[in-house]
Amino acid sequence: MAKSPVTVTVTGAAGNIGYALLFRIASGALLGPDVPVRLNLLEIPQAVKAAEGTAMELNDSAFPLLESVNIYDDVNQAFEGTNVGLLVGARPRTKGMERADLLAANGGIFGPQGKAINDHAADDVKVLVVGNPANTNAYIAAASAPDVPADRFNAMMRLDHNRAMSQLKEKTGTPISEIEKVVVWGNHSADQYPDVSYATLSGKPAIDQLDAEWLSSYFVPTVAKRGAAIIEARGASSAASAASAAIDHVYDWVNGTAEGSWTTAGVASHGEYGVPEGLIFGFPTISVGGEWQIVSDLEISESTRAGIDHNIKAAQEEIDAVKELGIL
Ligand code: NAD
Ligand code: LMR
Repeated sequence: MAKSPVTVTVTGAAGNIGYALLFRIASGALLGPDVPVRLNLLEIPQAVKAAEGTAMELNDSAFPLLESVNIYDDVNQAFEGTNVGLLVGARPRTKGMERADLLAANGGIFGPQGKAINDHAADDVKVLVVGNPANTNAYIAAASAPDVPADRFNAMMRLDHNRAMSQLKEKTGTPISEIEKVVVWGNHSADQYPDVSYATLSGKPAIDQLDAEWLSSYFVPTVAKRGAAIIEARGASSAASAASAAIDHVYDWVNGTAEGSWTTAGVASHGEYGVPEGLIFGFPTISVGGEWQIVSDLEISESTRAGIDHNIKAAQEEIDAVKELGIL
């Protein structure tokens, strides 16, 4: 029997990530091959026409699971009855820009969206913030939605997680399906701490197979600065890989992570590993019954501790900057 349709709202639908994301959502990759989807697209008025073009293409693809596509420039209408919100719409970083430069430009978008989610979304709403600076924007949205549990606002750290897996595959030849228990702690920024302390490659500890010098001098900075490397190479920020990571994140959130495995999700801390409560932080997570659980019993080495502490400071500084700008 067909399942009930799920309303998915995508902001920034006419942008680059939107173009890579919407067709995969409509194909069933976000929620599963038996879940009909109603798409709500939110754009700023100047980009509504472009979103209409994308909607024409979505309809022309004749996806069996796609029930409807509606386009809005009104945030309250766009989040009416939303079950899954993908908050993508924001200005991307361009060459030479640091994430702090984005705070002022983008911070103002996520308060009103959080409020609209609070007032209009379905009770079971799940929100993934992709627009940068993602962790802080998720924090702003959650703070603006007092009636929605903070656990429902996630920041996308899955792209960082996938990038870490890809570097490990490239270095060791291990198939992606045999790489387990990688984590990227902290903030989706160059501060992040990709960590293989617990990782296994084909069932064997990764740290026994990798050189410490390669890990600290190549692996960590390559993963952490991959966003800037893509901007340098493409002349535009990552889009298809970002869309793919958003699909992975929501699919696992809704359908659960594989037994014995974990992933990285940017979720609200309850104080785990000394991360202040409420900070939206990359943690090792499993998903059970539609909810993330932080893997909270890991032994923490000195270097991991330093990586976590550095990210706590970076995340708090972004929030302080937003407060100074009067956004929070
Ligand atoms: P883009 O410029 O191609 O598209 C952004 C879209 O958002 C535009 O169509 C714009 O009109 C729309 N928009 C702007 N303000 C809006 C608002 N208030 N409401 C609705 N829509 C609005 O950018 P992109 O390449 O699609 O990237 C989008 C965001 O995702 C950027 O902030 C980028 O830095 C971020 N990003 C995050 C990750 C991650 O891993 N978290 C990865 C890649 C990109
Ligand atoms: C990325 O990681 O590719 C994006 O967040 C873009 C950026 O600004 O780094």
